[in-house]
Amino acid sequence: MKSKRIIIAIDGYSSTGKSTMAKWLARTIGYAYIDTGAMYRAVTLYCIENGLFNGDEVNLTALEQALPRIAITFEADDEGRTLTLLNGRNVEGEIRSMRVSDKVSVIAAIGFVRRDMVRQQQAMGREKGIVMDGRDIGTVVFPEAELKIFVTADAQVRAQRRYDELRGKGDDSITLEEVYRNVTERDRIDTTRAESPLRQAADAIVLDNSRLTIEEQNRWLLDHFNQCVIAGE
Ligand code: DC
Repeated sequence: MKSKRIIIAIDGYSSTGKSTMAKWLARTIGYAYIDTGAMYRAVTLYCIENGLFNGDEVNLTALEQALPRIAITFEADDEGRTLTLLNGRNVEGEIRSMRVSDKVSVIAAIGFVRRDMVRQQQAMGREKGIVMDGRDIGTVVFPEAELKIFVTADAQVRAQRRYDELRGKGDDSITLEEVYRNVTERDRIDTTRAESPLRQAADAIVLDNSRLTIEEQNRWLLDHFNQCVIAGE
């Protein structure tokens, strides 16, 4: 008998490796993967490129008018990696840069932006068989998701991981302290904002991966997925 396809919601703090684990899980079990952070990042890049930012302030009227013209789509490259497209242009690299990371929390705190993103995300999950990662997936986007995982790790460990990743991409303009400040500042904004703050859903399972290897983490994910699917049959 073919197993029932479910929705897997992965939420948690910045730089906990949510996307890496969500991508791996989706590939392993043959599900679609959606990185919702990439959507907020793409909107942020649009605002930067179109002069909608004045310092950390964004022109809300202009953004609300522009929103219907901001199309965010995903596409796989030749190696099967997911690329984020902003109005058809590949922005996968740019949306991970510090200039976007520095401003994305401002965009993610805007109610009308969130409502629009949530609507698109819910449409993407209509057929189930999806792994979606973000901050509000188990609480707002899919409160009825069959499997909810809340990922956390020490802020120092997360900063080091992000720093190594930026270095690996050739960005040596930034210090570990700056990355640590960015990570903790995003935690603060993400957990205290009025609109859909990051919080653990009551029925989410916590995964603290500060001291887990990738292999241990993958085993943990697969075990929980299998348990969830078996329990639902
Ligand atoms: O996961 P990430 O670091 O790429 O997310 C970028 C930002 O977007 C982060 O500040 C939190 C925010 N975000 C959100 O508010 N809701 C989501 N579903 C996903 C990301």
